[in-house]
Amino acid sequence: MTAALNSVMVRVPGKINLQLSVGPKEADGFHGLVTVFQAISIFDEVTLTRNIEGSGIAISISGDQTHGVPTDSSNLAYRAAALMCEIHSITPDLLINIKKSIPVAGGMAGGSADAAATILAVDALFTLGLSRDEMQAVASQLGSDVPFMLVGGTAVGRGRGDEVTSALSRGTYHWVLALSTVGLSTPAVYGECDRLRAGMDVVAPHANDQLLQALLAQDAVSLGKNLVNDLQSAACSLRPALRLVLDVGGEYGALGSIVSGSGPTVAFLVEDEDQALDLAVALTSSGVVGSVARAYGPVHGAKVIEFS
Ligand code: C5P
Repeated sequence: MTAALNSVMVRVPGKINLQLSVGPKEADGFHGLVTVFQAISIFDEVTLTRNIEGSGIAISISGDQTHGVPTDSSNLAYRAAALMCEIHSITPDLLINIKKSIPVAGGMAGGSADAAATILAVDALFTLGLSRDEMQAVASQLGSDVPFMLVGGTAVGRGRGDEVTSALSRGTYHWVLALSTVGLSTPAVYGECDRLRAGMDVVAPHANDQLLQALLAQDAVSLGKNLVNDLQSAACSLRPALRLVLDVGGEYGALGSIVSGSGPTVAFLVEDEDQALDLAVALTSSGVVGSVARAYGPVHGAKVIEFS
């Protein structure tokens, strides 16, 4: 007989949206999307441990991005653990530690990543043996970006962004990320997008074929030209300083510059690690960014890396 596991650690990446095309607001308050996600090499580590003291779910946060992360039931990882335990009739006595490196409220799906990691960790800890589809179904109840974080790589998201299909992508892309010290609220950015588009005829979004072709052909120059985010104007409207950040990338020869998701993280596509380093130095000395990170993608989605 196999001994029960006591603890499981899952590593999960952040994401950027290479395309984020936003349709009109639907009756449920959400917007129909077509988005192309890429998982990139900035990772959180979520560790689930059985709480033998039996006092419910408790969350602790460690790492370099702890500011503003809730440790109560509003944390998406808490909700993921509670939902998984409810569905599978497990007594929810769990300690969750989140070692955070993905920026908080940064448009990189950090909270969604932690929720996806928690779903996978509960599955492993209690040897539930769930299929990918069963985990995806739980994930989409928690948030639009959660299903992608289980899959990772490069994928097209439709519906709310939660109907995920893997996309073919060759090669590795290098990114420089300009991080802000203060996040942006996703609902506020969607609301600003609606306000800016009031009275306009907003059509249903569709996938950008040139962008998908660029990924297939490993053509970073074409990818850079085809990056598109319908939320970018709204994020810049709420945070005008983002325009200055985007300009610095252009001046230093980035292949493409884009606000990630609902922002305020700005992602710059560059040719290689050398250019990434040059741009990171330029951004740091420009004084217009909070901090700078380098990353590559695509990388794997949520993955169990340790258990005991
Ligand atoms: O699904 P998630 O909880 O990440 O969404 C956060 C907020 O972003 C929603 O409450 C909604 O305001 C907005 N949103 C949207 N349309 C989507 C996804 C998110 O309007 N497809």
